[in-house]
Amino acid sequence: MRFSLMILLAVFALPANAEETLCKKLGGGDAISSVVKSFLTKMRTDDAGKLGRFWLHRGDDGVAREEQLIVDFVQSATGCDRLYVGRDMVVAHRGMKLSAKDWGRTVDFLRATLDEFKVPAELQTEVVDLVGSTRSQIVECEDDRYGCR
Ligand code: HEM
Repeated sequence: MRFSLMILLAVFALPANAEETLCKKLGGGDAISSVVKSFLTKMRTDDAGKLGRFWLHRGDDGVAREEQLIVDFVQSATGCDRLYVGRDMVVAHRGMKLSAKDWGRTVDFLRATLDEFKVPAELQTEVVDLVGSTRSQIVECEDDRYGCR
């Protein structure tokens, strides 16, 4: 009886203890927040003809709110025990006419940021795959130019 109780406890306790979330592997919520902020700075300060076009005339508070939501989104998606209360990816980006070329540049910025933060290659793959899983919800055309016609 005591033995089976111990097995039962082990079965339920082990996965929780052994769980190594992507959040933890990346160094926790604060580390993720720093990476996301650096990545978004690259996006915002990009050429006006490229990704910078989205932030040409945005108010400061709107940009700060967006940044916080994206931090929350990534923390939540990586298992940081964070609640994301923003819109879903389709609704948030519908009508922005984001193309395959925009997406490619976004992934380049993401990789450059992960390099800067010295995130190991195998973890980078996990992050890029996770972000990549949102592509079909965000990209509106497969054009090889910035924006969709
Ligand atoms: C492909 C390049 C992308 C561009 C140019 C872009 C641009 C934007 C812009 C301009 C907003 C503000 C929308 C508004 O205030 O109405 C926004 C919101 C947001 N984006 Fe993106 N985005 C991109 C990709 C992504 C990706 C890959 C993710 C997640 C992994 C993401 C997550 C979000 C979130 C969480 C919000 C806030 C949603 C809300 O306001 O409720 N975006 N994005």
